[in-house]
Amino acid sequence: MIEIEVLRFDREKDKEPYFKKYKIEKKYKMKILDALIAINENYNDNLSFRSSCRAGQCGSCALKMNGEVVLACKSEIKDKSKIEPLDFPVIKDLIVDKTKIEEKVANMELFLETDDKDKNNENNEINEYNKDNNYIENNEINDNEVNENEINESNENKEIDENKNKEFKDLKKSSETNNIKLDGCGCPSIIENEECMDTKKVRSCIECYSCLSVCPVIKETKEFAGPYFMRYISKFDFDPRDIGERTKESIDEGLYYCTSCGKCGEICPKEINSFGDAIEKLRAIANMKDLGPLEAHKEVKELISKTGRSVEELDESFIKTVSKEQNKTEKEKVSPNSENENKSKKGKIAVFTGCMIDYRLQNVGFALIDVLKKNGIEVDVPEDQICCGSPMLRTGQTEIVENLVLKNKDALSDYDTVITMCAGCGATLKNDYPKYGVNLNVMDISEFLAKNLDTKQMKDLNLKVTYHDPCHLNRGQGIKEEPREILNKIKGVEFIEMEKPDQCCGAGGGVRAAKPEIAFGLGKKKAEMVEELDVDAVISICPFCQYNIQDALNKEGLDNIKVMNILELLKMSYDDK
Ligand code: SF4
Ligand code: SF4
Ligand code: FES
Repeated sequence: MIEIEVLRFDREKDKEPYFKKYKIEKKYKMKILDALIAINENYNDNLSFRSSCRAGQCGSCALKMNGEVVLACKSEIKDKSKIEPLDFPVIKDLIVDKTKIEEKVANMELFLETDDKDKNNENNEINEYNKDNNYIENNEINDNEVNENEINESNENKEIDENKNKEFKDLKKSSETNNIKLDGCGCPSIIENEECMDTKKVRSCIECYSCLSVCPVIKETKEFAGPYFMRYISKFDFDPRDIGERTKESIDEGLYYCTSCGKCGEICPKEINSFGDAIEKLRAIANMKDLGPLEAHKEVKELISKTGRSVEELDESFIKTVSKEQNKTEKEKVSPNSENENKSKKGKIAVFTGCMIDYRLQNVGFALIDVLKKNGIEVDVPEDQICCGSPMLRTGQTEIVENLVLKNKDALSDYDTVITMCAGCGATLKNDYPKYGVNLNVMDISEFLAKNLDTKQMKDLNLKVTYHDPCHLNRGQGIKEEPREILNKIKGVEFIEMEKPDQCCGAGGGVRAAKPEIAFGLGKKKAEMVEELDVDAVISICPFCQYNIQDALNKEGLDNIKVMNILELLKMSYDDK
């Protein structure tokens, strides 16, 4: 037997939602949907939920298990799990009200707009419309399979479906009146495969709206339509047959509000990365058409073009200081220790600082050197490195990126390993540089140290800390455990998790520069989670997160809580007693 809790709510009867416990017999590979059906069979409890295809194709069964969005028909039920509806207004139990989303979809009138010269393409409008909405086919299949609650849900949506079917029929009728030939399969006019690669990537959406449920930004502002809509618009903008004003539409729907947190891509059952596959490309098109980016983003580009750095130099650059030291005498170079195992195993190691650590958080750079010294590791800090290009890639200003990539390639390609201590830089070097033909062996500092950390020389710190997962480290590089392993090894550090450590703090995607109110709103949510814990410090591995969360803490009157890079904490633990 397993025990699960399901959030129950009937807006006609209940004042508040409440969790109800159920015990059910766990079958082999039992899915959440099977468990919900079993609850109704065993308890006769009239629990309401949506499902239809039971094959991960219709998107209707999306819900949350233990806070994570999943498809009920595809995900295995876990013992002691909590099942909740998506973050939309609830009609009953697990059934949410999607009316507003569906109305917006209908109002946007998104179907292929083609040139008059190619009348036959109007076939595609019908085909697109039918494919995107799946109404006719799905309803036929559903009718045979839905349970009583599903039928109720079906009725709730009937009106919308009927409207959409009417629209479809009108469209079909109009093409027949215009004597446009509809072929049986609705084949599109011939376009080359390469021309439709981008649009293909974003076409497989099953309209589960999970991405809208998890996007942190749409909970902050109504100005941002959200990932589902960005993906939807991009599908047409990337289609060579389409002549609509899609880029402008995407800007009007909030193209520059996305923080590039990647949460929408992480949970999408069809593995659509709405940021990378849609938003980032739409931003690049906006830039090409001179419709974007925002002023603050343009200023960053100007600065990078002039100085090679995305921020102004405050105090002497970390790289310059280290170079001066290194030039004094080879013997004084950063911690050479030829006896050490790490050196022979890891080969020649370079540090990639990123703009913030070079010009703003020099202390993090010096902490790195001290910590590596304690671990007997020799590194170089190559002088000719410049901005990794992340702020340009994330805001679509791609025209100067190749130049940056090639300069960094020259600075770094002689090394066996490149260490980063900024999540954004690491993600860019790992994920974007290969697209420019540059493949470096990049490791975040937490990856590098987790397995080999020398704890013998550490003193007891007597600190209580929590950890914020930078989006570009967690989802961008898949690094979640390593920083925690390190925190658990530091002597005298009590590490506790905040409620949602991987929720975006709002600093990324050019949002902190151009939409500071959104960055602050999301930072404030982090500050509230931190306040709950009564900790001395928040640890992270991203200078942008560090600044944004510290600002939010300060504004909330919590300036006694310090936000630190993990290297600063490690340095404290190694500092002389
Ligand atoms: S993009 Fe993915 S998560 Fe969003 S609605 Fe489509 S299938 Fe669902
Ligand atoms: S990347 Fe994050 S902020 Fe951007 S659309 Fe996806 S979930 Fe929303
Ligand atoms: S019932 Fe789960 S996707 Fe269709």
